[in-house]
Amino acid sequence: MSKNFYITTPIYYPSGKPHMGHAYSSIVADIFARFKKLENYNVLFLTGTDEHGQKIQKEAKKNNKDPKEFCDELSETFRSLTKVLNLSNNDFIRTTEKRHHKSVVDLWNRLVTSGDIYLDKYSGWYSVSDEAFYDEDEIEIVNGNKVSKSSGSNVEWVEEESYFFKLSVWSKKLLEFYNKNPQFILPSSRRNEVIKFVEKGLKDLSISRTSFSWGIPVPKNEKHVIYVWLDALTNYISALNFPDVENKKYKDYWPADVHIIGKDILRFHAVFWPAFLLAAKLSPPKRVFGHGWILSDEKKMSKSLGNILDPLEIINKYGIDQLRYYLVKEVSLGNDGSISMENLKNCINNDLANNYGNLCQRVFSFIKKNCENKIPKSKRLSISDKQLLNNLKNNLPKLINLMNNQELNEYIKIVVSFSFDANKYFNDSEPWAVKKKDPDRMKTILFTIVQQIKNISILLNPIIPNATKKVLSIINFSSNDIKIDKINDDNCLNHDKELDNLEILFNKIENDN
Ligand code: ME8
Ligand code: MG
Repeated sequence: MSKNFYITTPIYYPSGKPHMGHAYSSIVADIFARFKKLENYNVLFLTGTDEHGQKIQKEAKKNNKDPKEFCDELSETFRSLTKVLNLSNNDFIRTTEKRHHKSVVDLWNRLVTSGDIYLDKYSGWYSVSDEAFYDEDEIEIVNGNKVSKSSGSNVEWVEEESYFFKLSVWSKKLLEFYNKNPQFILPSSRRNEVIKFVEKGLKDLSISRTSFSWGIPVPKNEKHVIYVWLDALTNYISALNFPDVENKKYKDYWPADVHIIGKDILRFHAVFWPAFLLAAKLSPPKRVFGHGWILSDEKKMSKSLGNILDPLEIINKYGIDQLRYYLVKEVSLGNDGSISMENLKNCINNDLANNYGNLCQRVFSFIKKNCENKIPKSKRLSISDKQLLNNLKNNLPKLINLMNNQELNEYIKIVVSFSFDANKYFNDSEPWAVKKKDPDRMKTILFTIVQQIKNISILLNPIIPNATKKVLSIINFSSNDIKIDKINDDNCLNHDKELDNLEILFNKIENDN
């Protein structure tokens, strides 16, 4: 079995500053990337910016900027967000880079060679904001404006010469592909949606534009630029040095294990992208996971509603682990979910400060006071000690499975329950009460609870990397030691070294804060 794992986020339009939705997709992908690292995989985690097309050209013009200059600036804000979010991405791609240009041109040429491209004229509806073509039955009139039913964005009538991709001939092949690969589209509600759409029959897809110039020119006909979605999707293989399909990176990492995306761009990833790849005689990705919307106070976050929560503001005020944890705990991946400042504070207090944070703080300060600040060795574990440890260990295969199926919420629920149980174990075992009359028992309790803190910290590490790293470094784990297989290793603690001080992990938030 290959120990390589390739995961991607969408590449975002740098048409404005990054917002909570972008942060969400990136954090989710980062959690899976980090988890696979804990499983000893060679992980390639890619994110970046999608810089061509009419939307960007328009936005640049509004700002009196040359499009490239405009993208240079805004792409940088997305790049710095990867640092602020503590992403473990090992590449950041921009579609204005040379490596990408080369890759898109080659893919185009492959589609020409395979006979999947022809020249005709497009007439129909186009949304610049979505960079998407819509059929008559996909639009409606709202307040006198023609808008897309799915996204609500304005559409305009477009009539121009255009190259087409023969998508219509791929309907049957795609349905066969979905059938053979039942895990290709997750969650399954999304899969059904896509299958229904393809079963209706697909129309050929316009894949070039002539009414503006900001894009990659069509080879041999430079009055056309390549449709921004064909351009953008190709980023996933550009980062692997496509068109060199014999190079190690491409061979190791393609097909990608999972593209993490929002449900708004499902059709592009689950229909168009595999069709392009199949036509070009390349493998489609193994999985597309379409998550739901983050809503703010029950409504979709939007500039006009003024309910946008700025990730940077929250991170500055409360911390990045806090935001990471809250987003994935509160919003059920795959469904829409509402977030609010009120719930954020409760979540930080209840789950992080009072539960995991408190557990670590209590245990390590007890050890400092009563055990010469060293992790005690155990004499013999009692039934309740074993129960605590084994409950987690026995659940490990299930937890790994949940993460490999992107069932993140169930995973978190179980791990948080371990932390809750560990707190209860510590209370019920009362090490302070046996300190005098049975110091060996006290030591065994401390040994047990430190093992459990180690195990919970490893499991929480992909979600709250900073706090768990602090805790694990107290017990002498370097970053490279943080691995899933350390969970079944009860002999990896150093009992001779004095423990460093554990600083406060999560400050409790008062109500007026
Ligand atoms: O679509 N809730 O870029 P984009 C959750 N460039 N996720 C959200 C969100 C919300 N309220 N708002 C945005 C594009 N997202 C293309 C992608 S990929 C080859 C090209 C996330 O800047 C979600 O992942 O509009 C969504 O799919 C993505 O941001 C869209 O970002
Ligand atoms: Mg968008």
